[in-house]
Amino acid sequence: MTDAVLAEVRYLDEPWRDRDERPFIFSRETRHKNTIKHEVAINNARPLVADGSIDFDHNGFTLHAFNHQVSDWSSNEQVATTYASTIVPMLKSLTGCEDAFVMGHQVRNENPETFLGAYSRYVHCDYPLHPMRERESAVLKRYESPLADELEDREYVWYNIWAPIERIAEQNQLCVVDAASASMDDFREYHFSPKAEGGYATLPLYNPAHRFYYFNDMQTDECIVFKQYDSRSEKPMVCPHTSFFDSHKGERQGRRSVEYRALCIL
Ligand SMILES: [Fe+2]
Repeated sequence: MTDAVLAEVRYLDEPWRDRDERPFIFSRETRHKNTIKHEVAINNARPLVADGSIDFDHNGFTLHAFNHQVSDWSSNEQVATTYASTIVPMLKSLTGCEDAFVMGHQVRNENPETFLGAYSRYVHCDYPLHPMRERESAVLKRYESPLADELEDREYVWYNIWAPIERIAEQNQLCVVDAASASMDDFREYHFSPKAEGGYATLPLYNPAHRFYYFNDMQTDECIVFKQYDSRSEKPMVCPHTSFFDSHKGERQGRRSVEYRALCIL
């Protein structure tokens, strides 16, 4: 395997393995209190996707072209035009799904205004790992899709689509855990806001079997598409993910990125 980077990433701390309650991680302080650093090898997935040894269906992630006309990433209206023009056609062709629906997007840069707008600094998943019918039907109803009435009988997958914007991603790049290397036994739920009503998602405890990947020096016309939930029990469920600091590179220009969250009805 070539181009592996050794880096420290934060995992949920081990005492949480046996606790019933959920931790709260919504700030730098609560992140430090509830997570612990582990050094991991993060492999460059470019050659592995190119030669087919990493497979979207089996491993849960891939690299894809990201073609868009956005000139101002601070304009929500402008970014929202890419939902239909870029994201939906891409997901349909990648997954063969019947239809795809973008729930929203988040732009991140080197000057975050909130914890949730900052680079993610711990290994996590974006959602709970069980059906959330209210959220799923809300997205379908927003798009006035007739599939909203069929949800109970349909399989579906949530994806995160991540891309550098404005310049190449040199530092604090995104890395993902191969979904096929993650064991469901290691996942725990956690709250991502100070109050339990604010919602919860999932994050893993450390497991040396986790295989980490990134795509070196991602360009602004490239994106990572990675799975965040799959209703099909026979498929790998999710790619946990985080940003990481490559100490061999040192400080570089701040990373700027966009991510979309989208639901594919199969
Ligand atoms: Fe995330």
